[in-house]
Amino acid sequence: MEMKILSCTVNGKPVQVGYDVRECLLDTLHDRLGLTSVKRGCEVGECGACTVLIDGVATDTCLYLTAWAEGKTIETVEGLQAPDGTLDPVQQAFVDEFAVQCGFCIPGIIMSAEELVRTGKTYTRDEIRKALSGHLCRCTGYQNIITAVERAVDLVNGFVGEDGDAA
Ligand code: FES
Ligand code: FES
Repeated sequence: MEMKILSCTVNGKPVQVGYDVRECLLDTLHDRLGLTSVKRGCEVGECGACTVLIDGVATDTCLYLTAWAEGKTIETVEGLQAPDGTLDPVQQAFVDEFAVQCGFCIPGIIMSAEELVRTGKTYTRDEIRKALSGHLCRCTGYQNIITAVERAVDLVNGFVGEDGDAA
């Protein structure tokens, strides 16, 4: 086994971690750094459960070699909450819309939603559905998830008030 050291930024902090050169980023984040929001689902790029943001782009970490993450900025759900415990608007929208059941798929979906929200654009329901089409959920039937992302996009970009009414 050949080991190397990865230097990157994870959730705003500089990180150095040893890894096997054959390893995917999913294993490094989940097993070595203890970031358990990064889920091991299909491991072949089909379910989206392992999605994180790499330099702001939603990425399946089961298909991404750890070696490629050298110098990159990685964000996972663990980094979204404010220090005082306040949820990020996307997380809060998932709570408000009852969009979580078992929760297994949700961290990956939230990170894809973060990518959408940060563009500052509006999205139709169909566009959101298409953007999340790489994510499989065994529980929710997707309606509440799509509604939560719609709400988060609108909230963050000021298209509705905090009470959910049109601004
Ligand atoms: S575990 Fe990576 S896409 Fe399913
Ligand atoms: S909430 Fe259970 S898999 Fe999506």
